[in-house]
Amino acid sequence: MAYLSSSGNTSRVAEAIHAALPGSSMMAMADVGPLDGYDLIFAGFPVIAEGAPRRAKRFLRRAQGRRVALFLTHGMPASMSEFDSAVPNCRRAAAGCELLGEFECQGRMVPWMPKLLRLYPRGHVRCWARIDGEAHGAGHPGEGNLARAHAFAIEVCGRLTVA
Ligand SMILES: Cc1cc2nc3c(=O)[nH]c(=O)nc-3n(C[C@H](O)[C@H](O)[C@H](O)COP(=O)(O)O)c2cc1C
Repeated sequence: MAYLSSSGNTSRVAEAIHAALPGSSMMAMADVGPLDGYDLIFAGFPVIAEGAPRRAKRFLRRAQGRRVALFLTHGMPASMSEFDSAVPNCRRAAAGCELLGEFECQGRMVPWMPKLLRLYPRGHVRCWARIDGEAHGAGHPGEGNLARAHAFAIEVCGRLTVA
């Protein structure tokens, strides 16, 4: 389990997945050494600029040829049409990996985030941050999201056992 998280949302999901998988190890992406010997890698990161952040892309390149399951958190509600490209873009960052599944949920925006996003070069991300600000994602990831993440982890591992 390798995760990237600056405001804590993705790490909360990582903990839920980790708790579902006895014997798994959980590490910040930057601390992950050679990937040999791992049967399955859960890679988690926030959506940044409608896709995977650079550090996650680098990590996923290292994971090419391996079994990977993605878990993502994002600020926009998934129902917003502007969010449509985010998951496919993240999936594309895992090209070359054997992708076993992906999980996404909204994460709360901490106060510095809308301030930063208002300066953002991409028009609709900037508009979203300006219009909805801190209200977006309040309470997420909540218990429901974490329960879904837990079930996702078990489901992905179950698929591995059946295969
Ligand atoms: C620079 C920056 C860009 C972001 N871009 C997007 C975006 O394009 N779409 C989106 O839904 N959320 C975006 N977000 C919000 C984060 O994906 C969201 O808050 C996430 O849950 C943060 O995860 P973390 O707490 O694990 O760092 C952005 C956040 C930052 C700081």
